[in-house]
Formats: sequence, C-alpha cells, structure tokens
Amino acid sequence: MVLIWQPFSKTFSELVLLFALFLHVLPLGEGKKQLPRSAGASETVETYDKYYNYVDLTNRLQSLAQSYSHIASLSSIGRSVEGRELWVMRINVEPDKDTPGKPKFKYVGNMHGDETVSRQVLVYLVEYLLTKYGEEARITELVNSTDIYIMPSMNPDGFESSKEGDCNGDYGGRNNANNLDLNRSFPDQFDGTTVKPDDIPEVMAVIKWIKEQKFVLSGNLHGGTVVASYPFDDSVSHQRQGHYSQSEDDNLFRYLALVYSHNHPVMKTGQPNCPDTPEETFKDGITNGARWYDVPGGMQDYNYLYGNCLEITMELSCCKHPPASELQKEWDLNRESLLAYMEKVHMGVRGFVKDAVSGAALSNVSIVVAGIRHNLTTAKFGDYYRLLLPGTYNITAVATGASASTCFLARDRYMFAADDKTIGWSLQPSLHSKQPVWRIDSSACGTQRQAQSKPHPV
Ligand SMILES: *[C@@H]1O[C@H](CO)[C@@H](O)[C@H](O)[C@H]1NC(C)=O
Ligand SMILES: *[C@@H]1O[C@H](CO)[C@@H](O)[C@H](O)[C@H]1NC(C)=O
Ligand SMILES: *[C@@H]1O[C@H](CO)[C@@H](O)[C@H](O)[C@H]1NC(C)=O
Ligand SMILES: *[C@@H]1O[C@H](CO)[C@@H](O)[C@H](O)[C@H]1NC(C)=O
Ligand SMILES: *[C@@H]1O[C@H](CO)[C@@H](O)[C@H](O)[C@H]1NC(C)=O
Repeated sequence: MVLIWQPFSKTFSELVLLFALFLHVLPLGEGKKQLPRSAGASETVETYDKYYNYVDLTNRLQSLAQSYSHIASLSSIGRSVEGRELWVMRINVEPDKDTPGKPKFKYVGNMHGDETVSRQVLVYLVEYLLTKYGEEARITELVNSTDIYIMPSMNPDGFESSKEGDCNGDYGGRNNANNLDLNRSFPDQFDGTTVKPDDIPEVMAVIKWIKEQKFVLSGNLHGGTVVASYPFDDSVSHQRQGHYSQSEDDNLFRYLALVYSHNHPVMKTGQPNCPDTPEETFKDGITNGARWYDVPGGMQDYNYLYGNCLEITMELSCCKHPPASELQKEWDLNRESLLAYMEKVHMGVRGFVKDAVSGAALSNVSIVVAGIRHNLTTAKFGDYYRLLLPGTYNITAVATGASASTCFLARDRYMFAADDKTIGWSLQPSLHSKQPVWRIDSSACGTQRQAQSKPHPV
C-alpha cells in the first residue's frame, strides 16, 4: 500500500516522502501449496553424531551450497587470526541478491570456541532449511519471506584447540588465537572500545557485516547453561550481579527470549540443573543479561545500540563441549526454538520510505515509535522493520532536514491485537492486524496541513 501526497512547502519539498507503510500479514505456519522438490538435491546426509572440524565444516557447507544453489550461497565475511574463513550461509530464494521488503535474520554460533553445540546445531539448521524447502509449507514460507544468514562459527581457531568432553572449558578454546574473549571485545555503551582492532579480526569482520547488512533480528548462541538472555548485558556501575539493566525494548526482548525458551523443553523449566551450578534457576528460562552477570563489550548490546538489530543470547547446554553422542539430542531440543525465533522477524510493522516526487528510496530515515526511546533507521531500499508487541503505536518517520532541523514526515498509528495466548504471560502478536488509522503530520515541516488517507490492503 502506498500513500502519496504533495510537497508541503518549497523549503522542505526535498524532504517530503512517500511513506509507504503496510502492516505485514504473513500467516506463517499455515498450510500453503507446496513447491516441487528440486531434482536430486534433497538428500539428508547428516548423522548428528560427530563434530565438524574446520575442514569438515568447510566441506559440508560448500557441498550444501552447491547442492542447493537456487536457495543458498556460501561466503566468508573475513578471516580469523589463524586465517580460517568466517563462513556464512545465506539462505534466500534469491541468494545472491538483496530484495526489497525482506527482513534480514542472522544466527551466530561458536563465538566462544569451546562452546560447540551451537556450531553443530547451526549446520543442522542449514541442512534442515535447505532440505525442507519446497517440502514443508512452514519452511518454504520462512525461506521465501526472509533473508537468512547463518554463521556456524565465529571463532574457528578456538574450536580447533577445544577438546570434546570438556564441559567447563578447562582445556581452552574460549578465546581467539590472540587470547581475547570475542564476547567482551565489542564497543560498549559505557566503556567504549577497549580492545585493539588488530587483535580481534573476528569481531571487526562481524561489525562490518552488521553495518553493511542492517539485520533486523539475530541470535547469538553460546553454551555453559540453558537460558535465553536479553539486553542489556551491563550497566554503568558494572555491578557484578543482580542489577536489572533495562533497555527501551525490554518487553519486546523478554517476549523474544520467551519464544526461544518456551519452545525448548529444558530451557522452559528454568531449571537447567547444571552440575557446576545446581542451584541456578531462571524464571521462565530467561534472564536480563546484566541481572545474571555483568558483561561489558558483549555482542548483543552492540547489535541493538549500534547495529539497528535486536539480538538475544541463547545458552544451549550445561556442558560446553559435550560428547558428540549428545548432538542429536541437542538438535531435537533446539530445532523448534530456532525456527520459532526466526519467524519473529516478521512481527510488528514494516514498510518503505520513499521520496514523494522521485520515488527514490530514502535510507537512514529514523523510524520513531512514541514511548520507545530507541529509533531504527531505514535500510538501502528505504525499508524498515520495526518489531513490536501487540498494542497501539504512533510511528513517525523523521529525516534530518537541509537546515539540520528535523522534519516529521509521516505519522501513522498502528494497532495489533493479541489473539494467541500460547505464551503464558499473554503476548503472541497477531500478524493479522486491524486496519490502522493513517495520519500524515507535516506540522514540524512548517505547514499546518494534515493529510489523511485510507489504507488499502496490500
Ligand atoms: C514460495 O515462493 C515460490 C516462488 O516465488 C512460490 O511459488 C510459492 O508459492 C511460495 N510458497 C510459499 C509457501 O510462500
Ligand atoms: C556473551 O555475551 C552475551 C551478550 O552478547 C551475554 O548475554 C552472555 O552472557 C555472554 N556469554 C558468555 C558465556 O560470556
Ligand atoms: C544517518 O543520519 C545520521 C543523522 O540522523 C547521521 O549522523 C549519520 O551519519 C547518517 N548515516 C549514514 C550512513 O548516512
Ligand atoms: C498517539 O497519538 C494519539 C493521538 O494523537 C495520542 O492521543 C496518544 O497519546 C499518542 N500515544 C503516544 C504513546 O504517544
Ligand atoms: C529519535 O529520533 C527523534 C527524531 O529525530 C529524536 O528526537 C530522538 O531524540 C531520537 N531518539 C533517540 C533515542 O535517539
């Protein structure tokens, strides 16, 4: 759907946008016509009973990308200290191309080289998505509608020096080959940059990737207990434990963490019963990061504050590097959570911001939600994806004017109903939204003109 209006004044005419918004209606999980299977490419070769070292991982990913080249492409976003590639499998119906209107989702695993379950589980996820595409409506729809990026290992050097069966990281492998913890090396909102970029090529590659792609939603997979943890991860005082450091999107983050936890048979109990910390419990299987323990320089806060992306951290298993015989079980425990969490990239509001006259996409326009002091900005097609819980929101697109003053370009009101109470404390946002009230408010642009337009269903 598209709203068009005339320039409000000469001075600001260059700022006036065609603000095309639509409430996204995507009946995920509902039966749809299935695609024919692509010939000869859908063999499942996974055995779920061994770890892939770097060479195996590379071969496995290359072979998957080759067999499923119509929906997958493999690339490296950089190299580790010891020169190993940081592989990313992109899964998308047009895997070599950016398509307007598709939100970007990512999973990053094995950031701590000795936390290994995620590395394997993400390879299984890649295979699952590729083999089920065209077979299962749910997966077909997810792959059709989402630009998916999966990085099984952010710390391939660490993995090589880690030891199978080492539950507590006693034999090393956590850090990169310069002995730096990648999960403590991102620029921090309170402390700034504390690590030399040259020492952490893995982090620098991921930062560049985040900036380039403008991901919408992300998961960072770890090990050591079983819980989903959400921002913020530290506070100004760096109190070691017990300090709830709340972000502006706290309710949304809690919800996203619950989606993962609720679908994980062990995590949802909140009682991982890890041998080292038998008394440690997490209500509903989730926790605020800083409340659990203060982590400066973590990746999830970086994504949220500087990357336009919502990220939470999933801890998958008590034992960091369990025997390979556990891998099948771990995959079974996490599969539904991994999928359900990915599907949440489609909740909330999305649309485009375009120049009213030329129709050109306007990137870097702020999307401001009244009451939430955290703006997102539009991506290269002028597209934005604002994940939101059910409710009524006033949303405004704001660009910086030629005079350096801000100009409110368009304001719209959205309502979402909560129509599904599968998560105990209520909020399963409806993807089938009510008709929004559209409002264009040009008052801040110098004229007192309001346009109102009835939305047309997309
Ligand atoms: C997925 O996309 C293909 C090709 O565009 C289309 O034919 C098919 O109907 C879509 N399937 C679903 C479930 O969205
Ligand atoms: C890693 O960092 C994330 C935030 O990015 C944090 O939630 C998590 O607790 C950290 N995990 C470990 C094992 O350091
Ligand atoms: C986006 O806009 C902000 C001001 O609103 C500016 O500081 C920033 O440099 C812009 N970024 C890009 C990539 O243009
Ligand atoms: C949204 O706009 C309506 C109408 O202008 C106003 O009454 C309401 O207070 C606004 N809500 C927020 C959260 O700003
Ligand atoms: C969001 O953008 C609005 C309009 O430019 C600005 O007034 C506000 O300070 C921004 N909020 C944050 C948290 O940056």
